[in-house]
Amino acid sequence: MTALLSLDRVRVDLGGVTALHGINLAVAAGERVALVGANGSGKSTLLRLLHGLVRPTAGRLQARAGLRQAMVFQRPFMWRASARHNVALGLWLRGTRWGEARERSMQALARVGLQALAQRSAPTLSGGQQQRLALARAWSLQPELLFLDEPTASLDPHAKREVEQLMADFAASGMTLVFASHNLGQVKRLASRVIYLEQGRVLADLPVEEFFDRTLLPATSRAADLFVRGEVT
Ligand SMILES: Nc1ncnc2c1ncn2[C@@H]1O[C@H](COP(=O)(O)OP(=O)(O)OP(=O)(O)O)[C@@H](O)[C@H]1O
Ligand SMILES: [Mg+2]
Repeated sequence: MTALLSLDRVRVDLGGVTALHGINLAVAAGERVALVGANGSGKSTLLRLLHGLVRPTAGRLQARAGLRQAMVFQRPFMWRASARHNVALGLWLRGTRWGEARERSMQALARVGLQALAQRSAPTLSGGQQQRLALARAWSLQPELLFLDEPTASLDPHAKREVEQLMADFAASGMTLVFASHNLGQVKRLASRVIYLEQGRVLADLPVEEFFDRTLLPATSRAADLFVRGEVT
């Protein structure tokens, strides 16, 4: 399988801190990769690196030519404009004509069930609605690869399920996902592969069944096992 994106011995220094050390990673089409680890372990930095928002200090990042990618942040940025314009502007900024951008924005809002709120000012939407709007904005770009940084972190259980369902639907339609999460239940439900980070290093990179196998994990990665047990006990 050819990789969409790969990292070869990448290090990232930020403000004098080494946030990521010696990262080797390849993301293949169709994967659903979860990034887990404690606060400050490097999940957001790794997502930002993969999305091209942070450059490697050393090592190499390679992306397949013409790869379409998008990112959804934990607290999505909203323009002071309607929900519909928030989607249309994202498309327009990437070169889509305004008329077409407006049309595609309605399709994207319908995709996430927000068509009734199309004219509402985006900053006045609830956290869950804004997160769905951020997903609509990402979906409208038709990315092959979507990065999500703790997309359900501040949402109530109902909104969380809605966002998870959309992520599952996107994946089922062929989109590759890489997401950071502190919610191990969510990781179990959505991921096909789990990467465990500690202090900027990858200490486990396993198929989801192996990551959650209580008899296997202690032998493969003691650090990851301690992390998982800390979460579940
Ligand atoms: N702009 C920056 N300048 C300096 N240090 C940074 C910067 N951004 C991140 N760091 C540091 O890099 C390390 C990794 O941070 P990162 O935000 O990637 O962690 P995280 O796993 O996403 O944490 P959380 O679970 O809290 O979101 C931390 O030590 C953090 O303080
Ligand atoms: Mg983070």
